[in-house]
Amino acid sequence: MTNIVIINGPNLNMLGMRESQHYGQKTLADIEQACESRAAELGQSISFFQSNHEGELVTHIQQAVGRFDAILLNAGAYTHSSIALRDALVLFQGIKIELHLSNVYAREEFRHKSMTAPVMNGVIAGLGSMTYEIALQAVADLMTTK
Ligand code: DQA
Repeated sequence: MTNIVIINGPNLNMLGMRESQHYGQKTLADIEQACESRAAELGQSISFFQSNHEGELVTHIQQAVGRFDAILLNAGAYTHSSIALRDALVLFQGIKIELHLSNVYAREEFRHKSMTAPVMNGVIAGLGSMTYEIALQAVADLMTTK
């Protein structure tokens, strides 16, 4: 069984009430429920973590070392600023995929830069809540080619 942790950063707990033109109407709970269904189909076990605090996200990534096969991370705005998150991700040897609901490249220039992308296996952005489910599929495929 593949063990995956899905980590969401600041303001993603506000999905559903937040700039729906960028992030859609679904709440984080809706997205997590859709992920549970998809993971069940793919034979994956998933756990979820959300925090608005950079240090808590760092600690959670550290704690994933040796415990999970993959991290799916939507670090929200910390994507664009956090060297601490990037350094923590380097410690994790499993599959790492960066996620964004919105197409960050079609938005403000400060969202075009990701501190974390260079240390990830890949980035999925701009496909709304589908982004998360596609990432689960990607982990399944990457696990078979490892
Ligand atoms: C986001 C994009 C970030 O630029 C933004 O700060 C977020 C959400 C996304 O999912 O599209 O909070 O990561």
